[in-house]
Amino acid sequence: MGLKPATNPDVEAVTIELSIDGKSVMAKGGVSLYDVISSTGKIIPAMCYHYTFDPFGSCGMCLVMQEGKKAPVRSCTAKATAGMIIRTEGDDLFQARKKAVEKHLSVHPLDCPVCDADGHCELQDMAFRHGVTNLANAKQKFIPEDTRSPVLDFNMNRCIACAECINVCKDVLMIDALQFMKKGGFNQVVPKGDLALSCEFCGDCLAVCPVGAITNKFSKYLYKPWQMKKTTTTCNYCGDGCQMYLETKDAEVVRVTSPLSWKNKWGDRAETAKGHGGLCVRGRFGFEYIDSPARLKQPLLRKGNQLVETPWLETMHQVVDRFSEIRRKHGPDAIAGLITARCTNEELYLFQKLMRAGFRTNHLDSSARYGHLNYVLASRHALGIGRSPNDWEDLTKAKAVILIGSNITETNPLTAVRIKEAIRVYKAQVVVIDSTVTNMAKLASHPVLIKPGTEGLVIDGLVKATLELDLIDEDSTKKHPQAFKALKAAVAHVSLEQVAAHTGMSVEALKNTAAIFAEASRSIILCAEGIVRRPDGYQNVLKLIDLAWITGKLGQPGCGVSTVTEEPNEQGAVDMGAAPEFLPGQASFNDQTARDRFAKAWDVTLPEAGSGANLVEILKRCRSGQIRALYVIGENPLATLPASMEVRAALDRLELLVVQDPFLTETARMAHAVLPACTSAEKDGTFTNLEGRVLRVREAIDPIGESLPDWHIMTALANALGCQWEYESSNDIQAEIMKLLPGYYNLGQPRKVVPTVDRYLSNGYTTDVAARYRASAPSDSKNQRPFALLMGQVLYHSGKMSTKASGLITIAPNTGRLRMNPQDMERLAVGDGTTVRLTSDRGSMQLAVQPDHSIAPQTCFFPEHFNEPPVKDLMSVQVDPTTGVPSFKQTRVTIEKA
Ligand code: SF4
Ligand code: SF4
Ligand code: SF4
Ligand code: FES
Repeated sequence: MGLKPATNPDVEAVTIELSIDGKSVMAKGGVSLYDVISSTGKIIPAMCYHYTFDPFGSCGMCLVMQEGKKAPVRSCTAKATAGMIIRTEGDDLFQARKKAVEKHLSVHPLDCPVCDADGHCELQDMAFRHGVTNLANAKQKFIPEDTRSPVLDFNMNRCIACAECINVCKDVLMIDALQFMKKGGFNQVVPKGDLALSCEFCGDCLAVCPVGAITNKFSKYLYKPWQMKKTTTTCNYCGDGCQMYLETKDAEVVRVTSPLSWKNKWGDRAETAKGHGGLCVRGRFGFEYIDSPARLKQPLLRKGNQLVETPWLETMHQVVDRFSEIRRKHGPDAIAGLITARCTNEELYLFQKLMRAGFRTNHLDSSARYGHLNYVLASRHALGIGRSPNDWEDLTKAKAVILIGSNITETNPLTAVRIKEAIRVYKAQVVVIDSTVTNMAKLASHPVLIKPGTEGLVIDGLVKATLELDLIDEDSTKKHPQAFKALKAAVAHVSLEQVAAHTGMSVEALKNTAAIFAEASRSIILCAEGIVRRPDGYQNVLKLIDLAWITGKLGQPGCGVSTVTEEPNEQGAVDMGAAPEFLPGQASFNDQTARDRFAKAWDVTLPEAGSGANLVEILKRCRSGQIRALYVIGENPLATLPASMEVRAALDRLELLVVQDPFLTETARMAHAVLPACTSAEKDGTFTNLEGRVLRVREAIDPIGESLPDWHIMTALANALGCQWEYESSNDIQAEIMKLLPGYYNLGQPRKVVPTVDRYLSNGYTTDVAARYRASAPSDSKNQRPFALLMGQVLYHSGKMSTKASGLITIAPNTGRLRMNPQDMERLAVGDGTTVRLTSDRGSMQLAVQPDHSIAPQTCFFPEHFNEPPVKDLMSVQVDPTTGVPSFKQTRVTIEKA
C-alpha cells in the first residue's frame, strides 16, 4: 500500500500538521494515521495491525472520529493529511469498538480452556477491556483442524480473519505461503492452493496471530503461557544472533518465542531496518536438542574398549594426570586444542588462555577456521579490520547488493530478510551470483547462475569490466597511482569474453553488475560460503576489496565488502584469540607489545612467537606423533572432514583424546575421556554476531544431568594443572575481558569499524596484486568428471547439532539422497529414488537421487549435516596456503545409473 514513505530514505515526505484530541501534532504526510496517533503515545485498540507490514484494515478496532465525517474512520488504513482534526476517545468510539469485538466473538468457538493462546489472546483482552459479557450464543463454524503441516496446526474456528499471518509471510518474509479461501461459508486462512503447508516454517505467522488460530505442534496443550518461565537469550544456530525467549517449565524447554508478536505491534517501521524481531525455523523449532534424551549426563572414561560412566572427580583426576604426564615427558608442544564457535566469548577466551597459559602451547584453533578466517585475514591484511563493516541496517538500506557465493536464505535466514526488505521497501538492485538457483536469486533484480567453482573468475571479470567501462572513483585511485597501475597491469590479460565462456556469466551481465555496484550510492558486496569456504577464498576476498576500492566504496557509509557467519560465535572466536595467529582483540600473536601485555595480565611466559599450529596442522602433527594429547570442545572433526584428511588415523595415534560435548559425537566415541558439557540454554555468557554486536546468552534451565558449562570445566582443569583461576561465573571472566579489551562489550551497539586502505595500497600492494589475478581458468570440462558435487547447508539444519533436534529432523530428515536437477535426471534416465553410482577421484558410492529444481544443471548436492551415506568422503581437500583454511565442499563427479 506504500502508506509509509518515511521508511524509504530516498522519499522525503513533507511534514504536515494535524490535530489529535485537541493537540497539534507534526507528522510525515501520507503515513498511516494510526502510526501518527501511536507516535503521540496513545495506544488505541488494533487487532489486525502490526508495524512490520502495511495495514490491512479488517478488524474494525482502530476507529477514530475525523471532523467532517459522519461515521468513524479506520485509522490504520487512513493516511495522515494536513489539517485533519481527529478524536480518538469517547463513548461513541468505545461502543463502536465493542460492537466489533462482539462481531468477532459471535462466530468464535470460545474453547479458551483448551486453547494455547488462553491468557495470551488479543480477542480475550479486547472482550475484557470493552466489557463484552453476552457470549452465550456464539455461532459454531465446525471447521476441521488442518494438522497436515509438520510444525503448525491451523484451527480456523478461532480465526478472526485479521490477515496478519498472510501479511507477515507475504510482505516481510516474501514467502507468500498463505492465503484466504472461502470454505464452508467462512473466509479461512489456508496454505497456498489449500495444499499441505510448504514453506520455510519460520513460525512468524504463529507469532503475529493474535488468537489461537495457528498453534505450535511441538508445544500444543502442554502448558498455559503464564506457567512458563521466559528467558531472553541469543539463538545458538547461526551468526545472525537473533534474540529469542526460551520458554521453560522446570527442566523442559516448551517453546521458543521472539520479540515479533502481536503483543509487540506498536513500532516505527523505519526501525525494521535493524530486524523485524522474528526467527527462522531453526531458532523457533530447533530447541529440542537441549533436553534431548541423547544428552550426555555423566562423564565417561575409557576402560578397555568401553567408555564407562565415571564420577567427575575420578574422570578429572585421570584427565589431569594424563595431560600432566604428556607435558612432562614431551613438552607443551605435544598438546593441542580445538573448540567450536558455538561456545560463548567467555569460554573461547578461557580456552585460549588455558592452552597458552595453562598448557603453554599455541596449538589451538576453532571452527572459524572452516572459512570465516579467510575473510578476517584478508580484510585485516587489506583494510586493518577483522569483521564485516556493514550491519543489518546498512544491508536493508543498500541501493545495490552483490551477493556472491551465498545461499543466504539457507545459511542466515534473518540476514536474508534484511535483503528482502532492501528489495521490497528500499528498491535495491540485488545481483545474486551463485551456482545454485537460490531463493534470493528468485527475488533478486539480477539473478546470475554461474558454473560451480568459478566465483574467483567472475570477480576478475567484474574488476576488468569496471576498468573497461571507466567506472572508477578518481578520488580513491588518484591517491595511489602506483597501486592502480599495478591492478590494471594485473588484470590486463583478463578477457571478459573468456570469463563469460568459463563462468557462464555473460559479458553484458558482468558489465551491468559492475555498473550497478559502482553507480549506486550505497553498495555492498556480501560474500559467504561460496567464496570463503572454497579454494582461493583469501585471494578472492582481496579481489572483492580491489573492486570496492576502485569504485570508491571503501569507508563510505553503508558500503563495503561483508560476510556472514554460519555458526553463532565465529566472530567471537576470532576476537577472543581462539586461533594460533591471534591473541584476544585480534592482536597478532607475534606482536611483542601485545605479547607483553597478555603475559603480564596472565602472569605467564607465553609460548614462543611464531609457534602454533592451526586445525589442519594439528591433525597432521597428531598423525606424525608430534602432538600426543588433544582437547576437543564441541568440535567433531571426524564427522566434519573428509576421509582424505585422515582424521581417524590422527585421533587413533593420540595418547590422550579428551572430548567435551553435550553429545557423544563420532569424535567423542574415540576419546579416552568424555566430559559432558551444557548447551547454551544452561549457561550465561555472550556471543558476538556477524554485525559485531555482543549479545547476551542466558541460563534458562539448570544443567542437564551432571553436565557443566564449558567455562566451568576449563576452570577446574586449569586449577588442577596449577593455575590459580578464581572464576565463579561467566561474569568473572567477562570482567577480565573488559579490562583487557575495553569497549568490547558494546551492549548491542557495535562500534563501526572503519577500513584504512592507504597503508596496504602503498605498502606491498603492487607486488601482491599480480599473483591473485594469475589464477588460470578451469581446465577444459570435457576432460573432467561432468558433474560438480556440492555439499552445503540447508535451511532446516546447522552443523550436526540440529540433527539432535527432533523437530527439525521431523521437518527435514536425512533422505540419504543426492539432489539433482530434473533435466539431468531425465537425461540419465533416472527417476526419484533411482540408485546411481557417484564417483569422484577419491572414491565411489551408490545412493538414490531426488529431483530438486534449485540445483543447477550439471551439479548435484548433498546436505553437509548428514554422513549417511558418507558423501563427504568423496571430497578432496585444498588448504589455503595463506590462511590454512581447508576447502572440502566441492568436487567433480561422474553419475551413472547403478
Ligand atoms: S511458517 Fe513462516 S513461511 Fe510458513 S506460512 Fe508461516 S510465516 Fe509463512
Ligand atoms: S490465523 Fe490468526 S493471524 Fe491469520 S487471519 Fe486468522 S486470526 Fe489472523
Ligand atoms: S536466523 Fe540464525 S540466529 Fe536467527 S533464529 Fe535462525 S538460526 Fe537462529
Ligand atoms: S487495526 Fe485498523 S482495522 Fe484492524
